Amino acid sequence: MAVVLVDHPLVQHKLSILRDKRTGPKEFRELIEELSSLIAYEATRNLSLEMTDVETPLEVAHCRQISGKKLGLIPILRAGLGMIGGILRLVPAAKVGHLGMYRDPKTLQPVDYYYKIPEDLPERDIFLLDPMLATGGSAVASVKFLRDRGARTITFMGIIASREGIRALQEAAPDVDIYTAAIDEELNDHGYIVPGLGDAGDRLFGTE
Ligand code: PRP
Ligand code: URA
Repeated sequence: MAVVLVDHPLVQHKLSILRDKRTGPKEFRELIEELSSLIAYEATRNLSLEMTDVETPLEVAHCRQISGKKLGLIPILRAGLGMIGGILRLVPAAKVGHLGMYRDPKTLQPVDYYYKIPEDLPERDIFLLDPMLATGGSAVASVKFLRDRGARTITFMGIIASREGIRALQEAAPDVDIYTAAIDEELNDHGYIVPGLGDAGDRLFGTE
């Protein structure tokens, strides 16, 4: 299993603005979308290709296209919702499922409250989306939830991950690759990633 730190200059530049407490919800949403596109660009690097011939205005070009692989995007609500638009722009045929999960603020344990996922989950390569991997509890519970419903290949796509969250997800699901734009060292006493970016859901939807 791989942990891939996407350290492209554009990603790192946008992440620094995203982290800034002065960045308001409009720009925050735009940055999450842009970062998600750029991270998805890396996370889809291994999609398989097949040959196809295309007639250009001049002659036939031997081209390659993605070989009909079905993709599923599963955002963890709420903050994962912010990642959808940027990824769908790259893979518009992907189906989108939703997984409602929040962290109990006292216990930090994930509580699931809603789901609607594609019926053909086992046939799809699943990308689980959440900008924040903190204790890892939400991601671990989400992977288990999807596995229980037949999901096979799962890739986690985030924006900031803590060391602890990566460790927890690796231990629980060694075959899940993790793509992230940053790995932060610590969590504070409330389970927030530090330095992190604060509460991603609140910053996306202006609810802080
Ligand atoms: C945040 C975040 C993750 C989770 C990460 O969601 O979007 O889902 O916390 O923390 P963990 O790794 O310790 O589980 P939150 O519970 O705040 O819900 P929200 O997105 O609805 O605000
Ligand atoms: N959820 C967030 O939105 N931010 C954190 O730092 C941790 C969990």
